[in-house]
Amino acid sequence: MSKKVVYVAMSADLIHHGHLNIIQHASNLGEVIIGLLTDNAISAYKPLPYLNYEQRKTIVENLKGVSKVIPQDTLDYTDNLKKIKPNFVVHGDDWVKGVQKDTRKQVIDTLKDWGGELVEVPYTDGVSSTQYKEAQKKLGTTPDLRRARLRRLLTSQSMVRIIEAHNGLTGLIVENTEIIENDYPVQFDGMWMSSLTDSTSRGKPDIEVVTTAERVKTLEDILEVTTKPIIYDGDSGGLAEHFVFTVKTLERLGVSAIIIEDKVGLKKNSLFGTAGGQSQDTIKNFCNKISAGKKAQVTSEFMIIARIESLILEQGEEDALKRANAYIKAGADGILIHSKSKEFTEVKSFCEKFRKEDKDTPIVVVPSTYNHVTEQDLVEASINVVIYANHLLRSAYPAMTKVAEQILKDKSSKNTNDQCMPIKEIITLIPSGD
Ligand code: SPV
Ligand code: MG
Repeated sequence: MSKKVVYVAMSADLIHHGHLNIIQHASNLGEVIIGLLTDNAISAYKPLPYLNYEQRKTIVENLKGVSKVIPQDTLDYTDNLKKIKPNFVVHGDDWVKGVQKDTRKQVIDTLKDWGGELVEVPYTDGVSSTQYKEAQKKLGTTPDLRRARLRRLLTSQSMVRIIEAHNGLTGLIVENTEIIENDYPVQFDGMWMSSLTDSTSRGKPDIEVVTTAERVKTLEDILEVTTKPIIYDGDSGGLAEHFVFTVKTLERLGVSAIIIEDKVGLKKNSLFGTAGGQSQDTIKNFCNKISAGKKAQVTSEFMIIARIESLILEQGEEDALKRANAYIKAGADGILIHSKSKEFTEVKSFCEKFRKEDKDTPIVVVPSTYNHVTEQDLVEASINVVIYANHLLRSAYPAMTKVAEQILKDKSSKNTNDQCMPIKEIITLIPSGD
């Protein structure tokens, strides 16, 4: 009699004795095929795993009792089950309740077609994936893993959600803030190192007066306490001869991408629009800068994203499209189409036309002025990355000013109690690490 086929699905990011227990049970029943969840499948219900698919596959293939590893591209087992028609599916009995209960029902129904059976193994006590995740966070990340993560997110999620951080504390907010929605955790995917908020929090204008060395210091503070990918706002990128050094520095530190804008002369914040008296670079010059940067980078994962200011500077959609194509030809790995309009229409129209020619190049947007748009609207316009560019600083400043005024008024701080976090909380907010 030929050996029975046993199917086990897992994400196997952090292998522990619970996984080994399941595999051992499965191998007692027959030949074990692991359906290894792809980054795509995992990112539908939780943050991307630490290790990528290939890395996880190498580990699982080498586990005792495993015959074969195949990708499972959705949370739903159906496609793989229909292909393999296993005699058994083995899973921990923890999925009877909670987010996976519908998946379980689907598995049972599908197996019925050929008389397959679901075998549930008692959940291994003492394994807490939350504890493991905490341990992983303490372990931190490496520049290589962090750098590569943005490209992984772009290929596995329909929208990559980025928010500004301007110091270690805001980095921690981006790293740790989570809400639970329909039983699934929802988080930010990474950080935007905004020139506006880095400059403003230093009490300086957003005119490239804060040097790259100072910006890198902020970056290092953030890198030290976080693991999520970082997109660095490179302003104009400076001279091409200087830009190549910035690229190498960021790449070495584990930054995933730099975005440079096609402006020359004294850079002002884009939201001033034409009132800032800003000028746009020539296509030729900006393409040279992009190419120089691409030649300078040493890893394949680092991204140089070209930010097009044609709509900001009222040069029209055609100019924006022409530039987008030229910048991509010069090597840009993505484009940011910026707008100061209160309506989404001009960005949406640009994206529609751009996507007719180019289906793949990632599009990034910064909806600060047209902020009624939802992420769903952006996905429908085939936009890949949303940057909430300044919200942590913009929310903190009024709160701090209000408290300062209250103290001045009262000559006492008692009435600020409700607006301030308790002393006990602030002194324990950042653990000492021992
Ligand atoms: C920033 O956050 O610094 C940006 C985006 O460059 S914007 O402020 O809209 O120009
Ligand atoms: Mg900026």
